[in-house]
Amino acid sequence: MAHLLKDRSVLVVGRAGGIAKATATAIQAAGGQVIAAGRNVDELKAAYNDTVDVESIDLTDEDSIADLANRLGTVDHVVTTASARVYGNVRDLEPAPVMLSLATKVIGPLMLVKHFEPRMPRDGSFVLLAGIRSRQPLPGSSAVTATNGAVDAMTRALALELAPIRVNAISPGTIDTGAYDRLGEQGRSELYATRERRNPVRRVGTSEDIASAIVFALTNTFLTGAVIPVDGGEPLVV
Ligand SMILES: NC(=O)c1ccc[n+]([C@@H]2O[C@H](COP(=O)([O-])OP(=O)(O)OC[C@H]3O[C@@H](n4cnc5c(N)ncnc54)[C@H](OP(=O)(O)O)[C@@H]3O)[C@@H](O)[C@H]2O)c1
Repeated sequence: MAHLLKDRSVLVVGRAGGIAKATATAIQAAGGQVIAAGRNVDELKAAYNDTVDVESIDLTDEDSIADLANRLGTVDHVVTTASARVYGNVRDLEPAPVMLSLATKVIGPLMLVKHFEPRMPRDGSFVLLAGIRSRQPLPGSSAVTATNGAVDAMTRALALELAPIRVNAISPGTIDTGAYDRLGEQGRSELYATRERRNPVRRVGTSEDIASAIVFALTNTFLTGAVIPVDGGEPLVV
């Protein structure tokens, strides 16, 4: 890959695997310097084995966001992949997990922007992670749909407010990251088999599919306010 991110620093918030780790790897391949930040610093250090700087952050805690911004100073780009998704029929939903979902994927990223944008160069950017359920709701997805719908909407508002700093979101479909382990082995296999049979690309997505879209959003300087679907065409199937 061309070194489009040569000498640029990119903060990647999330876990020690999945889309966050694939993104860190893709950014490094593009010549960028990665700072990986999350709640589990030991897991991050083990996953990255000293190849990136590791920092602590909890997106539900504004002080931890402000502390990290103060420690790092200027960062060229910020990517946030954290989530605390909650599925369930609305009759069974409790407020606390729904609020945690919003705190992690909506309010936390807003606070990231609040604390990192003032120090960011004018050609910097933010990439947020949205998700397919804002565009293709399912029964039982109302909390996920609300969370990702908020990400879609705030991406456009932030792009206007932060200009010329760019703000984009990637909206993944079904990606094999471990996120579906909650369904058990059989449930996950059945879900993947359904996706592979029905969606137009006939496969489930990989973390690398999303990471390459994130690098595209980081490096295409004519792109802002965009929510880019990377979902194998899943919403086209009724
Ligand atoms: N996988 C998919 O199919 C899919 C589909 C649509 C959208 N997405 C979106 O893509 C993004 C990445 O997905 P993924 O599947 O790679 O990961 P994921 O399973 O959604 O994991 C997200 C990670 O965020 C971290 N996190 C949670 N709360 C946090 C907080 N308060 N502060 C900092 N980190 C926190 C957690 O890691 P720790 O426990 O280590 O802190 C968690 O494992 C997410 O935003 C997800 O919603 C994924």
